[in-house]
Amino acid sequence: MHLAIPGFARPSTRFDREIMLRPDRRVDFTSSLLSAFATTPLIEVHDLAKTYRTARGDLTLFRALNLEVDPGEIVAIVGQSGTGKSTLLHILGALDVPSAGTVYCASTNVAKLSPREAAAFRNREIGYVWQFHYLLAEFTALENVAMPLLARGRKRQEALAVAAKWLMEVGLQDRSDHRPGELSGGEQQRVALARALVNNPRLLLADEPTGDLDETTAGQVFSLIERLHRTHNLTSLLVTHNLDLAARCTRVLRLENGRLSPATPIP
Ligand SMILES: Nc1ncnc2c1ncn2[C@@H]1O[C@H](COP(=O)(O)OP(=O)(O)OP(=O)(O)O)[C@@H](O)[C@H]1O
Ligand SMILES: [Mg+2]
Repeated sequence: MHLAIPGFARPSTRFDREIMLRPDRRVDFTSSLLSAFATTPLIEVHDLAKTYRTARGDLTLFRALNLEVDPGEIVAIVGQSGTGKSTLLHILGALDVPSAGTVYCASTNVAKLSPREAAAFRNREIGYVWQFHYLLAEFTALENVAMPLLARGRKRQEALAVAAKWLMEVGLQDRSDHRPGELSGGEQQRVALARALVNNPRLLLADEPTGDLDETTAGQVFSLIERLHRTHNLTSLLVTHNLDLAARCTRVLRLENGRLSPATPIP
């Protein structure tokens, strides 16, 4: 196969001519070009096993779970309660460790990180959103959003300025001095999203981000997630029990018996 690629089409030097015209070299040239353009998954999980050792015996959630997510995908994970959806997100986000298998997330072998490296990895690469906002009650919305920047050593005024932009992005610029208790559930979750993304991570991990909201607000928060996913070139993995919202994702996977499988069409 000969690829017509702009800029490579006309051999000019002897080297170019040899590479492009010699039939035996053409294969190498083409395959190296193809591999240069090939997409590397942002999440690569192979044969993941996870067993919790408890006082009442071992609890095995996964024996050989596999998952690949390409950059730019927005993937929903659905499944019954207790199947291990949160555990999977925790492992991907270096909040928990696998029992066996390999887990590459944003080019990082997350199982090999020390606690300090795991904290730095999360701060840099992962935006995490949970069902409950976990905002700090005694700080304002603006200060909550600025927290990850301060944790990374940014100066306070700088951090607050960046946080203000993010509050505007989630439509809450006029709530910046409200404390979490002075915000609605949907507003709290929007602040939590701004806080999750303020460090420009590549990956958004969201664990039932709309699970605590009424249907209308859940739809609005989900739309915001979709918009932020698009405009910030995120790769997103969302756990949800809401099949209508899951259906809006590029892929839906069901976690069942320790394995992920495509869940389309959704019943
Ligand atoms: N640290 C832990 N030690 C022991 N068992 C745990 C631990 N964390 C979770 N589990 C158990 O692992 C199972 C899976 O938990 P997980 O929270 O991942 O489920 P889930 O799919 O997210 O459920 P839900 O939809 O209800 O949120 C549960 O039975 C839970 O009790
Ligand atoms: Mg869960």
